Amino acid sequence: MTKAWSKSDWRAKPRVQMPDYLDVPALNAVEAQLAKYPPLVFAGEARKLKRELGQVANGQGFLLQGGDCAESFEEFTADNIRDTFKVMLQMAVVLTYGAKVPVVKVGRMAGQFAKPRSAPTEVIGGVELPSYRGDIINELDFTPESRIPNPQKMLQAYTQSAASLNLLRAFSQGGFADIHRVHSWTTGFAEADKAEKYRELSNRIQDALDFMTAAGINSDSSHQLGTVDFYTSHEALLLEYEEALCRIDSTSGLPVAGSGHMLWIGDRTRQPGGAHVEFCKGVQNPIGLKCGPSISTDDLKQLIATLNPENEAGRLTLIARFGAGKVGDHLPKLIRVVEEEGMKVVWCCDPMHGNTIKSTSGYKTRPFESVLREVREFFAVHAAEGTYPGGVHFEMTGKDVTECTGGVRAVTDEDLSDRYHTACDPRLNASQALELAFLVAGELSGRRETAQAASI
Ligand code: PEP
Ligand code: CO
Repeated sequence: MTKAWSKSDWRAKPRVQMPDYLDVPALNAVEAQLAKYPPLVFAGEARKLKRELGQVANGQGFLLQGGDCAESFEEFTADNIRDTFKVMLQMAVVLTYGAKVPVVKVGRMAGQFAKPRSAPTEVIGGVELPSYRGDIINELDFTPESRIPNPQKMLQAYTQSAASLNLLRAFSQGGFADIHRVHSWTTGFAEADKAEKYRELSNRIQDALDFMTAAGINSDSSHQLGTVDFYTSHEALLLEYEEALCRIDSTSGLPVAGSGHMLWIGDRTRQPGGAHVEFCKGVQNPIGLKCGPSISTDDLKQLIATLNPENEAGRLTLIARFGAGKVGDHLPKLIRVVEEEGMKVVWCCDPMHGNTIKSTSGYKTRPFESVLREVREFFAVHAAEGTYPGGVHFEMTGKDVTECTGGVRAVTDEDLSDRYHTACDPRLNASQALELAFLVAGELSGRRETAQAASI
């Protein structure tokens, strides 16, 4: 018999992108403390999300995953959480109308703190220091002290995640998420100058809501219209933190990550024999796997077999992030192996990480047009392969930042310096994120119409 999985098995595997803590006793004390704390999420919630993603894998749902590239201690306010939550709900209503299936809402929130980096060090003005790896590990300031990994930061990340989740749960259930209210915010967006192309769809949604109200279906009579299910997710990068929050589910007797509902494995840490895959394979949560241009079909096959040996629908979401213009070179062969092996997965498109460029003004940015183009290529490849494009994954914020260029309220290269606040990658602002939802909804309804015409 093979030995049962243990939450510390990852320690014997090769690890990349993780900090070397110098003060090991301090690290161990933090781990012991976290291991005693309550989990942030409960096993039943993770199971529910897995069931909902199982519906997505079967074409009966659509996944919307979004939030910060990196949450920060500095930008931790109720307003920031509320605004990102709010725009995700607006997007979900628009996408539900386009897809005509339930939209599963998953935030990159309440735990998205640790970052993989392209280089271990950063050089500024001839000075070389370790890279910033997210607020759960070290600090963004460019000083030698700030860049030392400090295990105490895990406790602050835990506290911030708990408070964020508390607010998200209150917003989800306490009246804020009422569908009529959410859509009235969108009507405001579509009424604005230059957004007239979205007005028709927005009005159609309003008509549908008015019809339901007239028929006596409203948030008083239907719990579903007044509340939402909202889930959290983050990259499972800092394994000491993940291990310390891993718990045994009392219902199934199986291990569950208590740090968030869904975890994903980054494109830089998905080595089949590596530490990150080892940890994620043993927890029951839904798992995401980032798939960039360097993933081979053999690796993908092996990773799917390791991460989802029971071929459970909803367990695994493949998050494709190739870059505009490159989807056709990579995605079809991955889809074909998955189909040949009969593997059940959710296919999701991350049009952010393959489209980062340096603007003429020197800022790291992402052109709205490239983001949209990658989404369209993703849909076109799935249409050609006869498979289901199950979701989208965005780096976005509810704030009016100027980090990505383009959109109806066009942000130009020169505007980037106005409100560039991200600690890591550039995010879509509220208007760009909502606009993208309208465009994706258009793709989804086009897809349905084509499918219906083909079946007549
Ligand atoms: C991310 O999602 O922030 C990220 C680093 O993505 P990837 O692993 O796809 O590069
Ligand atoms: Co990012």
